[in-house]
Parts: sequence; structure tokens; C-alpha cells
Amino acid sequence: MTELKTTADVFDIMHTCRAMRRLRPDPVPEELLVKLVDAAIHAPAYPAAQILLLAARAFGLGAVLTTPQLFHPARYEELLGLPSDVTLTCVIPVGYPVGKFGPVTRHDPRSMISWDRWRA
Ligand SMILES: Cc1cc2nc3c(=O)[nH]c(=O)nc-3n(C[C@H](O)[C@H](O)[C@H](O)COP(=O)(O)O)c2cc1C
Repeated sequence: MTELKTTADVFDIMHTCRAMRRLRPDPVPEELLVKLVDAAIHAPAYPAAQILLLAARAFGLGAVLTTPQLFHPARYEELLGLPSDVTLTCVIPVGYPVGKFGPVTRHDPRSMISWDRWRA
């Protein structure tokens, strides 16, 4: 079972936080899921999903941000019994991964930076 504490380095976590789409059917303990949501709600609303993904990775859990509700209007809202004033922004499956984590492939950060002026 996954420990409730993690000592993993935050940069290791960020660099190996790949989208994990293949998950084992074993249930994740509720206590652990609550920990993920607790981490997420410590972030401002917009990055909450990203924090949840990082927290899942820190516990060795696989997760992926998905938006299936956009392809099936009202279906997920109906299944989950969401009231009309609640908006479903994303669905994040979480589970024990089948594959391995990371590394995450991204651009060289220097190619994304403008120092003081655009493209300078
Ligand atoms: C707003 C948003 C919606 C997404 N929806 C889906 C989705 O419905 N299904 C899916 O497989 N991936 C979806 N993704 C992509 C993955 O969550 C992930 O970000 C992407 O595959 C990059 O994976 P990597 O971090 O392993 O490189 C979505 C990403 C974003 C930002």
C-alpha cells in the first residue's frame, strides 16, 4: 500500500509527472484521495488540477487530466448528479500505474524566456 508520507524531491516529481493513462483496477485508499484533494485546494483555483497531478505523482499514483465531458454534453453531469450551478471542468482518473513514470519531454526553458523585452 502507498505510504501517506512522501519525501520525494519536488523537481524530480515535476520532471517525471507524465500523463498516466494505463491504471491498475486496484482501488486507491480514500485517505490518499483526500490527501490529493487537500493538496489541490491549497493552490489558487486555476492550478489546482496541476497540483493534484503532482501530489498523485509524489505518492506513486498515476493520473491524467482529461475532459471527456466536452465530448458528451450533459452525460457526465447527469451521471454525477451535478446541479446546474456546478461546472465540471475536468475529470482526473487516479490509480496505481501500469507503466513507468517520466521523463516528461518539454522545450528547453531558455527558448521560452524573454529577458526584459519580448524575444530580446
Ligand atoms: C485542458 C486539457 C484537457 C485534456 N484532455 C485530455 C483528455 O480528455 N484525454 C487525454 O487523454 N488527455 C487529455 N489532455 C492531455 C493530458 O492530460 C496531458 O496534459 C498531455 O497528454 C501531456 O502529457 P505529458 O505530461 O505526459 O507530456 C488534456 C490536457 C489539457 C491541458
